[in-house]
Amino acid sequence: MSQIKISKGWEISGNLATPESVYMRRREFLKGTALTTLATSALLMGCTSKLPDPDAETPLSEIEKKLYPANRNEQFQLDRPLTSERIAAGYNNFYEFTEVKEDVRVHAQALPTRPWTVEVAGLVRKPKVFDIDDLLKTMPIEERLYRLRCVEAWAMAVPWTGFPLKSLLDAVEPISKATHVRMTTFYMPFTAQGQLAFWQPWPYTEGLTLAEAMNELTFMAVGIYGHPLPKQHGAPIRLVVPWKYGFKSIKSVVKIELIDSRPPTFWNTLQGLEYQFTANVDPKVPHPRWSQAKEKMIGTEEIRPTLPYNGYGEYVAQLYT
Ligand code: MTE
Repeated sequence: MSQIKISKGWEISGNLATPESVYMRRREFLKGTALTTLATSALLMGCTSKLPDPDAETPLSEIEKKLYPANRNEQFQLDRPLTSERIAAGYNNFYEFTEVKEDVRVHAQALPTRPWTVEVAGLVRKPKVFDIDDLLKTMPIEERLYRLRCVEAWAMAVPWTGFPLKSLLDAVEPISKATHVRMTTFYMPFTAQGQLAFWQPWPYTEGLTLAEAMNELTFMAVGIYGHPLPKQHGAPIRLVVPWKYGFKSIKSVVKIELIDSRPPTFWNTLQGLEYQFTANVDPKVPHPRWSQAKEKMIGTEEIRPTLPYNGYGEYVAQLYT
C-alpha cells in the first residue's frame, strides 16, 4: 500500500481544490471562509445534538415492507466478499454534510427524505415530477451486488436495491437531440452546511452520456443491504455507476435533465485535471497525486489490483471504442 499515497479526506479544502481564479481572490476568500466557519460551527453546535440517532431502526412504510428484501439479480456476481454493512455505513463521502468520512453518518441525519420528488425534464417528450414512493411502486426493483471504487483508491462491495436508470428514462421518452444526462443533488445550505462554502459549485451535479445512462449497469439505488438507503448513503435515491470512480455516483438526487451537451459537474469544475468527466476506473491512469494501480478494501484492508472498468468491461468497454 506504500505506493498509494492517500491524503486525509479528499484534500478538497484550501488551494488544492479551489480553482486558481477563485483562490486568487484572496481577501474575498478569507472573509468568506471566516464567515462560513462561524456559520457552520454555530449551526453544527445547534443542530447535531438534536439529530436522530443514526443507529435507530427506521420503521418501514407499507410500500417498503412489500419491497424488501428485493429479488437479487444473479447476473451480477462479486469476486470478493461483501463489505460489512457497519463499515460501509460508517465511512462515507457526502461533502454536503462534512469532509470527515466517519462523521457523515451523524450529520446526514439532518436531511429530510419525505416528501421527496425527482424531476425528470429537458429533452424528453413526457417530462414529469415523480414522487419517490410512486417510483418505488412502479419501477422494476431488484437487488444487485456491485463493486464500488472511490477515486481515493479504496473500494467496497455492496448489495444495492434499486432499478435501472433506463427504466425511468424510457418512461419520459428522450428525444433524439438528447446526448447527455445531468443529475442534481438537493440544495439546502442550512441543513447541509457544506453547501455554505460559496466557492464550491453547489449543488452537487454529475453527468453521463446518454449511452452511459442507458447502459444496463447504470442503476438508481433506493436501498442497500436489504433495506432503504440510510441517509449517509444518499437517501432516498442515488445513482450507482460501478465502472466509474465513486464521485460519479451522485447521492440524494432531485433532478435529472436530458440535455444536448456535456454538462459541467461539481468535481470537474473544482479540479478538472484530477476529476475527469468520464472518470472510468483505470489502473493505468494515475491520479495526479497517487497511483490507481491498486485499491484497498475498506474493512478488511485487503490490497487488490485495480480492475479496468472496475471489472465491468464486458458491459461498458464498447461505449469507449
Ligand atoms: N454525492 C453527493 N451529492 N455528494 C458527495 O459528496 N460523494 C461521492 C459519491 N456521491 C458525494 C456523492 C463520492 S466521492 C463517493 S466515493 C460516493 O458517493 C460514496 O458513496 P457512499 O458513501 O455511499 O459509499
